[in-house]
Formats: sequence, structure tokens, C-alpha cells
Amino acid sequence: MRNIFPRWTNTIPVKIIVALSFIGGAVTAGITYYATPKYTRVGYQPTQPVEYNHEFHAGQLGLDCRYCHSGVDTSSHANVPGANTCMSCHKNVKANSPLLEPIRNSYYGEDTNKDGQLSEDEDLNGDGLLSAGPSVPWVRIHKTPDYVYFNHAIHVNRGISCVECHGRIDQMEVVHHAEPLSMSFCLECHRNPEKSLRPMEEVTNLAWHAPHQEGESHDLAQIHAGLQIKENWGVNPPLSCTGCHR
Ligand code: HEC
Ligand code: HEC
Ligand code: HEC
Ligand code: HEC
Ligand code: HEC
Repeated sequence: MRNIFPRWTNTIPVKIIVALSFIGGAVTAGITYYATPKYTRVGYQPTQPVEYNHEFHAGQLGLDCRYCHSGVDTSSHANVPGANTCMSCHKNVKANSPLLEPIRNSYYGEDTNKDGQLSEDEDLNGDGLLSAGPSVPWVRIHKTPDYVYFNHAIHVNRGISCVECHGRIDQMEVVHHAEPLSMSFCLECHRNPEKSLRPMEEVTNLAWHAPHQEGESHDLAQIHAGLQIKENWGVNPPLSCTGCHR
């Protein structure tokens, strides 16, 4: 009963409202701004197939986010790593840990394919490398609706840190949805990007703060640094409806 309507109908109401807003202007914008659910997904924390710990790997071991999420500054999507990435260490470290069994199954292949058919997952396993077994069924946490255009590389390459949209992942043993990622959330930054812009080399350093002088507050130091970056790079995030709804 779930698929009575074809998938494309999902986006119709938004397209209509976006179109109407060119006529209705501020009224529609006002309504949608306040109607957007703000906190519905905050806190969402599904149980993952492997107890992977960001606080340990990214925090204590100090692995850079891009070691695993290598697409984050080159493409619109940040990838979740395939088993190969984990096995570069876990072939040797904790090689027999029962916690890592799904990773080993994916890497070496599982001997449970009794009918001899190749499974759909058998070729590409997330990172474009050939892997013998099924991909690890990580549960997706962050997801913008289909009618929203979002691009990681554009943000990361302008000096917007992961922490702005995902919180202190490097302190999370289990990842949860930390920020609303609602329309008003996006717009708050698009209106005042100087509150968030930082030097490119600090985007994956989630603990970074703009250096501040004697007596200057963190916030003020950030705004000074941010305004300078905004001016130097001509940063101008879209505010128009069609900027994010294409
Ligand atoms: C050693 C590999 C590795 C490193 C390093 C790593 N991650 Fe991850 N990340 C994963 C894996 C595996 C998942 C999927 C399982 C999970 O959610 O914990 C994931 C999930 C995520 C998610 C949730 C994805 C979704 O489904 O919405 C975010 C956000 C994220 N990582 C951000 C970061 C940030 C920020 C850093 C750097 C501070 C980082 N990761 C470092 C492996 C890594
Ligand atoms: C740079 C090396 C490195 C990479 C890459 C790496 N890990 Fe680890 N991992 C470690 C170390 C070191 C430990 C801690 C071992 C110990 O406690 O003795 C560990 C521990 C673990 C544990 C706990 C195992 C146990 O039995 O206590 C899990 C689960 C785990 N890692 C999952 C992953 C996953 C999933 C990935 C890929 C997304 C990954 N790791 C990538 C180095 C790595
Ligand atoms: C401006 C906000 C923003 C920033 C900055 C940001 N993300 Fe995301 N992230 C999102 C949104 C929104 C989604 C959901 C994307 C979707 O549904 O297409 C997401 C999803 C993800 C996912 C799940 C896979 C995917 O692409 O859907 C991972 C992993 C991730 N982010 C990691 C990172 C890392 C690592 C960084 C920093 C290097 C980062 N993000 C910076 C907003 C952001
Ligand atoms: C913390 C600040 C911040 C947040 C939060 C943020 N953005 Fe942005 N966004 C920017 C900056 C900075 C740019 C780059 C503007 C430029 O290049 O001049 C940008 C650019 C964009 C662009 C333009 C891409 C292009 O092709 O030119 C889109 C679309 C966009 N953001 C969508 C979103 C959406 C959707 C969200 C919420 C899920 C979001 N942004 C959240 C700061 C932010
Ligand atoms: C910076 C990016 C951005 C801009 C600019 C933007 N939107 Fe959105 N919009 C979003 C995001 C992200 C969502 C999804 C919110 C969510 O998932 O809760 C959304 C959701 C919506 C929705 C669905 C609301 C709901 O409650 O489900 C409508 C309608 C909408 N936008 C209309 C507009 C109109 C009209 C404009 C111009 C005034 C506009 N948007 C400009 C990012 C943007």
C-alpha cells in the first residue's frame, strides 16, 4: 500500500510552493520558515552492524575524517568507507575480534552463498574497490529530502567544518544526529556565514577556535576571522528558493 503514488509525486507540493513563492513572496517564505520541523531528527542514533567508535578512531587515534570519508571534499556526497579501509589496520589489529566479523565477511567473502548465485553487492563496495563479500549494512543517519540540493565539497572547500552540521563527531562513541539540518538551520548560516568560516586546513579539526587576543571573546574572534575569509573569497551562499530547491 505504500507505493500507490510514484516516487516523483513526493516533490510536487514543494515544487508548487517554491513556484508560488515567486508570486506570494514573503508570506510563503515566512510560513515555510516556521513550518519546517526543527528538532524532529536531532538525537536519532540507530544501532549499527559494527560497534565502530568515532571517539576512539577519530578522537584518540587522531585519524582525519577524510581518511575514511574521502569523498567529502571532492563530491556532493560523503562516502562511508568500505571494509578495505578498516582492514588496512584490522588485518593485524584485533584481527580475530568477534566485533569485526561483518567487516571480515565483507572483505574476505562469506561462505554462505549456498545457491551459487552472485549477490548484487559483490562488485562495488562503496569505495570502488573489489570486495569479496556483501557490503557492511551501515544504517544511514543524515538524509535531506529529495527536493533539497546539498553538496559537501562546496561547503568543505569554503571553510565550513563538519562540526557545524554534525557536532563533535570526534567525541561520539556512537554517532547521533546532532543538528536539525532543517531549512531554517541552513538559512541561519547562509545569512551570516562569518560566524562559521574558518581556514581550509582546519575544517576537520573539530576542536578549532579562531585565535583570540587578550580580552576578546571567542565569538568576536570568530566573526573577525570569518569576515576576512568572507571578503577574501567572496563567499556568498544562496538565499533564494531555487538555490537549494532545483
Ligand atoms: C576509520 C574510519 C572513519 C573515520 C576516521 C571517520 N569516520 Fe565517520 N564514519 C565511519 C563509519 C564506518 C561510519 C558509519 C557507521 C557509524 O555511523 O558510526 C561513519 C559515519 C559517519 C557519519 C554519519 C553518516 C550518516 O549515516 O549520516 C558522520 C556525519 C561522520 N561519520 C563524520 C565523521 C567525521 C566528522 C569524522 C572526523 C572527525 C569522521 N567521521 C571520521 C568511519 C569513519
Ligand atoms: C589506523 C588504524 C585503524 C583503522 C583504519 C581502523 N581501526 Fe578500528 N581499531 C584500531 C585500533 C588501534 C583499535 C584498538 C585495539 C585495541 O583495543 O587493542 C581498534 C578497535 C576497533 C574495534 C574494537 C575491537 C575490539 O574487539 O575491541 C572495532 C569494532 C573497530 N576498531 C572497528 C573499525 C572499523 C569498522 C573500521 C573501519 C571503518 C576501523 N576500525 C578502522 C585501529 C584502526
Ligand atoms: C553545511 C553542512 C554540512 C557540513 C559542513 C558537513 N556535512 Fe556531512 N552531511 C550534511 C547533510 C545535509 C547530510 C545529508 C546529505 C544528503 O542527504 O544528501 C550529510 C551527510 C553526511 C554523511 C553521510 C553520507 C552522505 O553524504 O549522505 C557523512 C559520512 C558526512 N555527512 C560526513 C561529513 C564530514 C566528514 C564532514 C566534514 C569534512 C561533513 N560531513 C560536513 C551536512 C553537512
Ligand atoms: C555553517 C554554514 C552553512 C550551513 C549550516 C549550510 N551552508 Fe550551504 N553554504 C555555505 C557556504 C559558506 C556556501 C558557499 C558560498 C559560496 O561559495 O560563495 C554554501 C553554499 C551552498 C549552496 C550553493 C552550492 C552551489 O552550487 O553554488 C547550496 C545549494 C547550499 N549551500 C545548500 C545548503 C543546505 C541545503 C544546507 C542545510 C542542509 C546548508 N547549505 C547549510 C554555508 C552553510
Ligand atoms: C539554504 C537552503 C534553502 C533555501 C535557500 C530554501 N530552502 Fe526550503 N528547504 C531547505 C531544506 C534543507 C528543507 C528540508 C527541511 C527538512 O528536512 O526538515 C527545506 C524544506 C522546504 C519546504 C518543505 C517544508 C516542510 O515543512 O516540509 C518548503 C515548502 C520549502 N523548503 C520552500 C522554500 C521556499 C519557498 C524558499 C524560498 C523562500 C526556500 N525553501 C529556500 C533548504 C532551503
